[in-house]
Formats: sequence, C-alpha cells, structure tokens
Amino acid sequence: MNSIQEQLKQQFTQALVSALGSEFSAIDPMVVPASNPRFGDYQCNIALPLAKQLKQKPREIAQQILDNLNISEICETPEIAGPGFINLTLKPSYLETQLSAIQTDPRLGTEKVKEPQRVIVDFSSPNIAKEMHVGHLRSTIIGDCIAQILEFRGHDVLRLNHVGDWGTQFGMLIAYLREAYPDALTTADALDIGDLVSFYKQAKQRFDEDKEFKETARQEVVKLQAGDKESRHAWQLICDQSRREFQVVYDLLDIELTERGESFYNPFLQKVVKDLDKQSVLEESEGAQCVFLEGFTNRSGDPLPLIVQKSDGGYNYATTDLAALRYRIQKDEATRIIYVTDAGQANHFTQVFQVARKADWIPENVELVHVPFGFVQGEDGKKFKTRSGETVRLRDLLDEAINRVYQDLEQRIKEEGREETEAFKNCVAKEIGIGSVKYADLSQNRTSDYIFSYDKMLSLQGNTAPYLLYAYVRIQGICRKGEINLEQLDTNAKILLKEEQELVLAKQLLKLSEILTEVERELLPNRLCEYLFELSQKFNQFFEKCPVLKSEESVRTSRLILCDLTAKTLKLGLSLLGISVLERM
Ligand code: ARG
Repeated sequence: MNSIQEQLKQQFTQALVSALGSEFSAIDPMVVPASNPRFGDYQCNIALPLAKQLKQKPREIAQQILDNLNISEICETPEIAGPGFINLTLKPSYLETQLSAIQTDPRLGTEKVKEPQRVIVDFSSPNIAKEMHVGHLRSTIIGDCIAQILEFRGHDVLRLNHVGDWGTQFGMLIAYLREAYPDALTTADALDIGDLVSFYKQAKQRFDEDKEFKETARQEVVKLQAGDKESRHAWQLICDQSRREFQVVYDLLDIELTERGESFYNPFLQKVVKDLDKQSVLEESEGAQCVFLEGFTNRSGDPLPLIVQKSDGGYNYATTDLAALRYRIQKDEATRIIYVTDAGQANHFTQVFQVARKADWIPENVELVHVPFGFVQGEDGKKFKTRSGETVRLRDLLDEAINRVYQDLEQRIKEEGREETEAFKNCVAKEIGIGSVKYADLSQNRTSDYIFSYDKMLSLQGNTAPYLLYAYVRIQGICRKGEINLEQLDTNAKILLKEEQELVLAKQLLKLSEILTEVERELLPNRLCEYLFELSQKFNQFFEKCPVLKSEESVRTSRLILCDLTAKTLKLGLSLLGISVLERM
C-alpha cells in the first residue's frame, strides 16, 4: 500500500497532466503535510511555481488542477487558499478503510523499496587497545538504527565495524607485551592482560621514556608489516583481548556487526598510492605523497594537502579509507556508503571523498554519505567524565542505567504491593535501562551535542523510552482487564472514526510509512522518535476521552482495533530503534 502522501501525489500528477499536458508528468506535485493543522492535513503548493513558469495567476492554475483532480474518495472538497495553495482534509471514511487494510499487515502498510540497494553502514568502529568511548557508543546506536531502518525498507545492508586494528602503535604494544608477558606468545591459553587501557598507558610510558624500547618498538612495526609470524601472533592476541571487551558492550546493546578492521585493507594500500599517481593527482610535499584539494587551506591561507603516504613510506588513516572505499565499491558492489562518526571527522571524509572523485573512482550511481553526530556532554555541559575525572567505561555506563531502573522498579513494586520474580525484575531493568540509553541518543537531532542525563532519559515523563514503553504496557493492561486477545479481534469489524481524538490518532497511525521513507532519505532517526512520541501522546489523549472497554459494540471493537494498531506501531517503531517492548513493567 502506498502512503497517503504518495497516493495524493499520484492523483495530483494525473490532474496536472490532464490540465496542462503530458510534459508535466515528471514534475514533483509538491504535496506536503499541512503547515498548520487548521488548514487541513496536506497541502499542494505546485500552483505557485507553475504560475511563474506559465505566466498565469496561481489561483487560476490551482483551479485548473482542481477541475481535473479526482480525490473525492480520499479528501473532502479541496480549498484554494491564500495566493494559490490547495488545502486537503482527509475523509474519515477514507481513513477507516486505510486502517482496516493495515489491520492484518505485519508491515502495517509500509512498503518495501522497489529497487533495493546494496548499502554499507560503517559504524561503531572502536580502536584496539584503546577505550571504547561515548563517541563510539553514539556511533553504535545511531549506526544500528540506520541499518535496521534500511534493512526494513528492503535494502541489502552490510554492517561494517571498521575497527582501528592497525598502525604504528602496535609496535609499541607488541614490544611491551613481550616484555611484560614473556610467556604470552608460547602458551596456548587466551591471554588475559586485564585492563587493556592501562596496558596501553604503560606501553606508551615505556615508549616515551626509554630510547632502546622505542627502537625495539620500531622494529616490531617493521616485522609486523613484513608479516613475521610471531609478531602477527602477538598482534592477534592483543586484538582478541580488545574484541572480547567490545563484545560485552555489543551483547548488552544486542547489536550485530561484521568486523572488517583497518588491517583488512593493508594489502591494498600500496596500490591506492600507485593508482593515484597514475591518475596524476599526487604531489610530493616535504617527502610525503599528497593530494591537494580545493577548499582546504591552513590558517595562513596556504593549500592543505591530504597525505596518503608519509615521508617514511608509511600509510595512514586516509590511505586506509581510500582503499576501503574502492573495495566497497568494486568488491562489495555497494551503491550507498554511509559513515557514522562524530562531526570532528567531517573534514577527513570530505577530503577522502574528494580525492576518490578526483581519481575517478566513484561511479555516478554511488552515493557517499558522512553521517556526523555531536559530542556527548555531562550534565554540566562539559566533556562526559566520571566523578573522578576519568573516561567512563561503556560497560559501567550501561550497567548504571540498568541498576537505576532496577532500584526504581523495586521501589515501585513495593509501593504497589506487587510480587515479582527476580527474573522479571532483571529483564525489565535491562530492557528499560538499555532502551533508555538508546532512545536518549536517537531522539536528539544527531547533529547537535547531547547531554547525557540518567534522570532525564529514565523519566516516565517527556520524550523518553519509558514514556513510550509505558504507552505500550498501558494497552496490554487494557486487554488484560477486558480479557481480550488482540490477536482474535474481528478483522472484518468496521472501524468507526467519530470523535476528534479518534481521527487524530488514525491519521498519526497512517503516517508511519511516510516517516520511514523520510528517515531512509535523511538518515535522521530522531524523526522516527518524534513520530512515536506523538503517537503515544495522541493515544493517551484518545484513551482519556474515548472509553474503550465500557463502550457499546460496535464502537468498542473499533476502539480496540485502534488500541491494537497503536500497540503494533509502537512495537515495530521501537524495534527499528533497537528497543524491545515489554508486556508489563
Ligand atoms: N576508528 C575510528 C575512530 O575511533 C572511526 C572509524 C570510522 N570509519 C572509517 N571508515 N574511518 O575514530
């Protein structure tokens, strides 16, 4: 089923063609949600630009369109307003049939795309032996949500974890591993270095203080890059240890990714530089191989190059991204490549994309998108830290959210005199805790910085996960009370939209597919959050004004169907945000 907006667009296009001729079949009829609900539900703005083009009065064009428009099934009689807008109000009878049509549809009337793309979402991507920090958490949550929505739309999505598992720091780490854990390379047991972050710090300290150690570390890099067996093994041990740590976080978040770290592209780096040279885009500057790009200058206005090979012959982050880009286009055959990182890397990606374009590596049908996000701040508006000023371990951060929910829940259970099992409490605490962290992140426009506040994200009031989850639970509660099994509702029963709150709720329910296409295009998950928040609000208003269980048939069944559709929409929408609903909480 097409979204209502789509259906209206089709009708307007037909009207344009009948009124003005077939050359108007390809123009966008500019049907958008009404700027103000007072004017109706949708509006068509096409008469204004057309008037200019055809040198006629916009209101006259609007009239010509109306004379040829066939939407009496969908809308009340359209009105021409102001300079030539056409205002549209949906008919209750139309909303009723649309709702009936989605009642048994597991996709709730949302279509799959007709031409699925091969999409890569590059997200999470922490660095080995370093802290996986709140920036990576944002990337993980936003990236997963984008991937989910694109998958749901029918695209073929490859979720790539571009882990930082390569680079000169491994020389230092391996040298230190040999020194501090001399047996590590000979025992078969998995290495337990404990806290890798402090291991990194110690290695760094040795590196900075001891000339001899520094030289050993340098040799280790050379050996590792030459593929020396023992060095490789040491590298592997360190990566495995990190991986286990990352996995704890992914498990808690219930997020799956395919790891394809920087090291994967190592064999292709040399060729990147060689091919750039062939395309004559390389220039040598102070011994380094560089590409100079438009629009990048330093403070004194001199052009700033992107270095692709350092003067010592080594490659860097950018070289790897260039190799990855080529691989993803040529081998993975991706036509949309999405990178989810903090806004601080915007320049890096602009440069990498520009270099690749300059070298003619990007076919016209391939879209490269950097999806930037703002920084995570503490409640004081400063960088997010623990009380003692350290970086917060993600595992601790998530555990804290879960613990807080658990405490609140126990309190509530006691107050309400309920008996609940430990398993129930743990499950609820985990779902709400993790769900709240995810939702707090996703509900912000990702481009702005975001203040991490447990109190706000766990509140039952406002645009929060608990508020939405509660709306769902409330519906389950209605059913338990009325001993109703929503799955057994009569699918042929008529839906009746009489009250204002019923109409408002119905229109919101039918908007899901529009919202999803929008998120697919703009990659802004907060639009879906806003939608679900509004849906919960509208449901609550409906529930306050329109009795459900106490109503007479056939109003009762009709209202139960509205409850059912709301619950299903919440469940589906939340699942696309990576959040599971609860039957009770
Ligand atoms: N490892 C990087 C970091 O922690 C993020 C990598 C993002 N992806 C990419 N293809 N560069 O900042």
